[in-house]
Amino acid sequence: MMTTRKTKETPSRPARGVPAQPLAVVVIAAGQGKRMRSERAKVLHEIGGRTLIEHVLAAVAPLRPDPLVVVVGHQAEQVRQLLGDKVTTVLQKDQLGTGHAVLQAKAALRGFDGDVLVLCGDVPLLRTETLRELVQAHRSTDAKVTVLSVHVEDPTGYGRIVRGPGEGQLRIVEDADADHEEQHIDEINSGTYCFDAAFLFRALSQLGRENAQREYYLTDLVETASKRSAASCVMLEDEDEAMGINTRADLARAESVLQDRLIGHWMDSGVTFLDPATAFLSAGTIIGAETVIGPYVRLDGATLIGKGCVLEGSSHLRDTRVGDGALLRWGVVTDGARIGNEAKVGPFAHLRPEADLGEQVHIGNFVEVKKSRIGARTKANHLSYIGDAEVGEDSNLGAGLITCNYDGVQKHRTVIGNRVQIGSDTQLVAPVKVGDDSYVAAGSTITKDVESGSLAYNDKPQCGRVGWVESFRARSQVAKVRGDAARNRGKKKG
Ligand code: UD1
Ligand code: MG
Repeated sequence: MMTTRKTKETPSRPARGVPAQPLAVVVIAAGQGKRMRSERAKVLHEIGGRTLIEHVLAAVAPLRPDPLVVVVGHQAEQVRQLLGDKVTTVLQKDQLGTGHAVLQAKAALRGFDGDVLVLCGDVPLLRTETLRELVQAHRSTDAKVTVLSVHVEDPTGYGRIVRGPGEGQLRIVEDADADHEEQHIDEINSGTYCFDAAFLFRALSQLGRENAQREYYLTDLVETASKRSAASCVMLEDEDEAMGINTRADLARAESVLQDRLIGHWMDSGVTFLDPATAFLSAGTIIGAETVIGPYVRLDGATLIGKGCVLEGSSHLRDTRVGDGALLRWGVVTDGARIGNEAKVGPFAHLRPEADLGEQVHIGNFVEVKKSRIGARTKANHLSYIGDAEVGEDSNLGAGLITCNYDGVQKHRTVIGNRVQIGSDTQLVAPVKVGDDSYVAAGSTITKDVESGSLAYNDKPQCGRVGWVESFRARSQVAKVRGDAARNRGKKKG
């Protein structure tokens, strides 16, 4: 956990405990994010498979803010749709700056009397604990605003924290407005603040925009409060946490920090990563203890891996549930699938949406399964397509079995019973049923239901000609010699 520490310059009176006060949160997320050069609003870009705005909301949720307001603008409808109706959104029609953005939340906070935590929708790596400490620090002084700052290696693009000239004086100067000296300041504004609600909206209504960007800067409120000795600053130690995403390069850096965090978390919970540098997790992934994750494994969406599994490597699982003790050999791709306890899948298998494998099922190389339930201990070990099927337990589906599920217009179901033996290179033309305990001979094309306990086969007699090979080779040799001679004649003429 990161710790925040109050800076010496904190001007306000000594701590007097942290009274339980109402807390509101305003997240500003209306900007387009021009520097991303994207058609998508910046806060809809993702790290760890979640949008930036969702990361921010996940960090504030445990603080139980009431109300929680998100200021939307650019692609407001898409952002609203993503957030659903649990979050209050207000519209900032024109993006006139961060101060103007917060002002749009005034009506939504009417009658609210307490502290307002303001966050930027493009600062996704802040931890709940940091926010809690910021609120506590704010409440332990008489400050009207407490800003969360951090020292960074490269302050370019951020607002700089300017201290002085007098004791405890504080202001923020934006990158675009900073003079040469100020540009060298490496303490930056994280864009996260705790305000006294009454001060916030009063001061916002008096904001001007005499600055390089002709915008209403929220950051100017720090100087406003400072003039009344009511501005405070707490400093974060981990600069990664305060990272603001303005460009694609920022996005990639934040992704890498998040991956380290996620993988670190699962290692602490008892998961082995053979090569943490090449594993890639989503924030929604859950992994059981004693599971081993090999190199180049990507786990997306709400993927849940059980205990004691082995994922050999180079696999991509999305929204997939894997039971305990399963073995996924190299090169497994899944999407919306379920894999039962102790099942074995791969190498090189493809489980598509609604593939549902029971316990100890074996799905081998070059097998694709879609929208099919496969009963316990059934095996399809080689080169198959199983789609829109219901397969019983303890059956063996031979190499090259194909369920022919699509007639060009509609999909049809195949039902295969328990303890069925299906020979290699068989096509089951759906809709069709193969009853319990039946056998289907290799090379069959099954178009009619197979009764339980019976053998089904196509009557294709095998024919043969003794001595055929010798005469074939002789004929072929003569044809080749003639062909070569003709080509040579052609070349000479040319
Ligand atoms: C802002 C801060 C800067 C700080 C940095 C931290 C200001 C003036 N500057 O700069 O001091 O170091 O964040 O990352 O506040 N937004 C709106 N409406 C607007 C403008 C912005 O909702 O009219 C939202 C954006 O969607 C974004 C956030 O406010 O989520 C920050 O805006 P951005 O343009 O990224 O500000 P920075 O230049 O990063
Ligand atoms: Mg920003």
